Amino acid sequence: MPENQDAESAGENPGDQEWHRRARAEYALNRWKTATPPRFRDAEATIPEVAAWADHALSDNASAGALLLTGLTGTGKTHQGYGALRRIAAGGPDRFELIAVNSADMYGSLRPSQVMGAGERELRRLSEVQYLLLDDLGTAKASEWTEEVTYRLINYRYNHCLPTIITSNLPARNENGPDLSGFVGARVASRLAEMVTGLVPMVGADRRRSGRAA
Ligand SMILES: Nc1ncnc2c1ncn2[C@@H]1O[C@H](COP(=O)(O)OP(=O)(O)O)[C@@H](O)[C@H]1O
Ligand SMILES: [Mg+2]
Repeated sequence: MPENQDAESAGENPGDQEWHRRARAEYALNRWKTATPPRFRDAEATIPEVAAWADHALSDNASAGALLLTGLTGTGKTHQGYGALRRIAAGGPDRFELIAVNSADMYGSLRPSQVMGAGERELRRLSEVQYLLLDDLGTAKASEWTEEVTYRLINYRYNHCLPTIITSNLPARNENGPDLSGFVGARVASRLAEMVTGLVPMVGADRRRSGRAA
């Protein structure tokens, strides 16, 4: 332990700073591991735009906005999403809280249930968490109810400048077919348009079929 531990000297020594950063990274990476299913334990942000978004979030949380990964199934969207969160954790953030949820599971858990208020509590948890990975938005069947839930979630995160990663099989915009804007509705689409600071359309073959995936 260093002798000098008073507030003034703390962090002045670059060695100390690096020690503290590593301790924060270790803590954050443990949280990341707990929140990450086994398939994505080796996930890395290998796409430059994804890595850049993660670095932005690490240095200035409130202006990172949203990262939107779109593309066909198996192109690696979920992998990049977890990879981005891992990169943030590895940077040693001051604070690191995350929830990763598949959108179909989310709508399932938010449906009015027997347990009074359980859905509302869950919506609050997802709305308030520092980092949210909302996976596969647009795969559930759209209804007025899903639109309302998505609106409440995104509106909260938009108002509070909370960094959000969204993946979707739907393109952000498509004049000749279904798109994410159509699924989420105009109110959410307008907020997303402002929130998204990284739009990454993923291309390539389905990794699950090409045999490159585990
Ligand atoms: N960059 C990568 N390196 C190694 N494996 C990858 C990479 N990207 C994706 N995978 C693997 O390919 C499979 C499909 O990726 P996934 O992220 O689930 O695709 P999507 O979410 O677009 O459907 C998964 O098994 C994943 O672990
Ligand atoms: Mg996926």
